[in-house]
Amino acid sequence: MDHVNYALSTGQGKGNMFDDIRFVHQALPDLGVDDVDLCPKTGDLKLKSPVFINAMTGGGGERTEKWNAILARTARETGMAMAVGSQMSALKDPSERTSFEVVRKENPNGVIFSNLGSEASLEQAKQAVEMIEADALQIHLNVVQELTMPEGDRDFKGALERIQHISESLNVPVIVKETGFGISYETALKLAGASVSAIDASGYGGTNFAKIENERRPRKLEYFQDWGIPTAAAIIEVRRAFGGTVFASGGITDAQDMVKAFLLGADAAGLAGAFLKLAIEEGESRLIESVNELHEDLAMMMTALGAASIQDLRNCPAVVSGNLANYLLVRGFD
Ligand code: FNR
Repeated sequence: MDHVNYALSTGQGKGNMFDDIRFVHQALPDLGVDDVDLCPKTGDLKLKSPVFINAMTGGGGERTEKWNAILARTARETGMAMAVGSQMSALKDPSERTSFEVVRKENPNGVIFSNLGSEASLEQAKQAVEMIEADALQIHLNVVQELTMPEGDRDFKGALERIQHISESLNVPVIVKETGFGISYETALKLAGASVSAIDASGYGGTNFAKIENERRPRKLEYFQDWGIPTAAAIIEVRRAFGGTVFASGGITDAQDMVKAFLLGADAAGLAGAFLKLAIEEGESRLIESVNELHEDLAMMMTALGAASIQDLRNCPAVVSGNLANYLLVRGFD
């Protein structure tokens, strides 16, 4: 509940660097809006929409159950995949299961991702997937969040070995994600060697878990509040190292940011904070309407860029300037 309340009060940050990208308009696209295919090519993850609801809530009683039900029905009505929040609490206390199970109950045929931290064992991964008949498992990496959390973990050894063991043994695909501090080229290379199916770059510039956790502690760790790889840069970092499915998240709020994310090499985009705010402050029907608008806006912009599919966007030119251009230069990425 603290996370939800502080996520809403601290809001979405700025600084994911999407503003440093400008599209190059194509006046002869030779394409109609109806020809645009929004279905992403994501291998063993069969997604119908390039937009998904990223991991947020679960556990925490009736209120979380109600929000998860709203999010699950929205996913059902719009064809989006949905990730639940970390299921560790429900593995430890079965009374917490209902707020996760409601997601499958409301959306029996939809694509649902389980979620656990990198401390999870293979047995826990299997139980989490079974709990909601999940189609994939997200494993989150959240070192900075844990370090900022007064009661958080302080030892992060052995995570890659556990991820590899789970990826090689679980019967559903494994997605590894950050929680808003970004995945680097070096980390993505390690994950590529650990047989993961997908990486969610989850960069800096949206929900800020250092800010959220600092709200819960007397001595603030200010240095972590501006920590992390901006989302646009994180997508590029991951895509250079990893040939599998790449997800983009971290401060994505509109279709324009999504098109930029796809242009940089992402296959689908996840929204957490923005959907939570809409669900809680504006309600279910407005949330569904906004997702339909996102789909419509994507098709409009893709038409103007001459891209008939999400994959085609990778071949569209764009101009990168400002901080993102400097970042790429200094990192040696062209
Ligand atoms: C999150 N996020 C998250 N991620 C995860 O893997 N497991 C979790 O349990 C949670 N919990 C959670 C709660 C709340 C209230 C929020 C807003 C977010 C992180 C989320 O999936 C995402 O990676 C980041 O929030 C960045 O995306 P946005 O919010 O900027 O779109």
